[in-house]
Amino acid sequence: MSRSAHPAGPRHADVLPEGHYTAPAEDLNALDPKVWAHTVGRDADGVVTVGGIAVTQLAEEYGTPAYVLDEADFRDRARAWRTAFGADADVFYAGKAFLSRAVVRWLHEEGLNLDVCSGGELATALSAGMPAERIAFHGNNKSPEEIERAVRAGVGRIVLDSFQEIVRVAHVAQTLGKRQRVQIRITVGVEAHTHEFIATAHEDQKFGIPLAGGQAAEAVRRALQLDGLEVIGIHSHIGSQIFDMSGFEVAAHRVVGLLKDIRDEHGVELPEIDLGGGLGIAYTSDDDPREPHEIAKALTEIVTRECEAARLATPRISVEPGRAIVGPTAFTLYEVGTVKPLDGLRTYVSVDGGMSDNIRTALYDAEYSVALASRTSDAEPMLVRVVGKHCESGDIVVKDAFLPGDLAPGDLIAVPATGAYCRSMASNYNHVLRPPVVAVRDGEARVIVRRETEEDLLRLDVG
Ligand code: LLP
Repeated sequence: MSRSAHPAGPRHADVLPEGHYTAPAEDLNALDPKVWAHTVGRDADGVVTVGGIAVTQLAEEYGTPAYVLDEADFRDRARAWRTAFGADADVFYAGKAFLSRAVVRWLHEEGLNLDVCSGGELATALSAGMPAERIAFHGNNKSPEEIERAVRAGVGRIVLDSFQEIVRVAHVAQTLGKRQRVQIRITVGVEAHTHEFIATAHEDQKFGIPLAGGQAAEAVRRALQLDGLEVIGIHSHIGSQIFDMSGFEVAAHRVVGLLKDIRDEHGVELPEIDLGGGLGIAYTSDDDPREPHEIAKALTEIVTRECEAARLATPRISVEPGRAIVGPTAFTLYEVGTVKPLDGLRTYVSVDGGMSDNIRTALYDAEYSVALASRTSDAEPMLVRVVGKHCESGDIVVKDAFLPGDLAPGDLIAVPATGAYCRSMASNYNHVLRPPVVAVRDGEARVIVRRETEEDLLRLDVG
């Protein structure tokens, strides 16, 4: 394949030619606001700053690698979602994207609700003061203990994911003398245009109860008969990192179809519908995500239209964005350890983290961008692959990107849009210690999740 066939640069690994690449047209020192948190910029010396603090200072104080989170940006995005959906809808932040007690407090203050999917997330939410009634509890295999804790705590809703769970939750609630508000998660049979591992509404997968074949209707039938349950609605989550609203359109159409069938069969109009999360963000300049107000408008219109056609009162809508709120708010700051040019191929840039702090590239073929952060440079661009320090050749952080040709050990580089599913999916592979999350706001930085230590590792290893 010729160089000129791909003037836009090496975004797509499958079309990478052997040899050299056309250099990117964009200025390597520029920071595309699409992929960086709002307060990110460069100071007079060319050092990247966030919340008014230079990354060199952050690296000195907190070390690298570190996730650096822009608190103002987080709050802005959370508020934008809240405002876009208004008082007649609920926004549940999906805690799986990234959860910490500080985040729970910010969400609480900004008026968002919280979706948790494990006892650990529930404990974090409760310990930081999120009112239980604003928590939704998810999961395809909640343990009896988790169910009991959630019901005892009084969570606002449990999202039921199987026939067994309908009975289990009803039993626990009844034993505790409670009536638990529940939604039933269904799969609507939509193929979301996203990576196979993060698509969740086609039928051949572990989540939800299929609409097809009448299973979802049967689940509702059973749940309505159980005294321990108050069925408040239907839940559908079609997948993640989705840009195309047509999947939501089909999902809403089918969920409303089920609501209509329920009304016709049971004389009950369920008051709520949850359309899940999954809205995409920009990882590179090639991605064009929609704004929350556009998404809110589109979803509300779809549901209203479908309900009018079915002669149903429009139910209260809820959504569960995780990535779209926290994803763009953070970047990962690394120090370059080695720079290894491979003739005719590319230059491997090794950083002090890797797949243990960002598994997404290895797991989903995710694309990221990267910038030299501790200075600017006018050197010629070079094609790089940013790799980690793990004993595995698939340990790739950024598959293909350009960095200045004078990049050297000791430089700091930053990978934007790592706020979602990086710290939350981080591991201790190779006994590498998980990085801290440093929140920055108005010229002040504070650690909200501290760096792991060797003592932490050894404490778990009881010999
Ligand atoms: N609601 C439900 C029921 C979910 O299962 C998820 C994500 C969300 C909301 C939030 O989705 P978001 O808006 O963050 O896309 N580890 C993968 C993503 C897995 C998502 C799992 N469920 C990744 O790194 O892309």
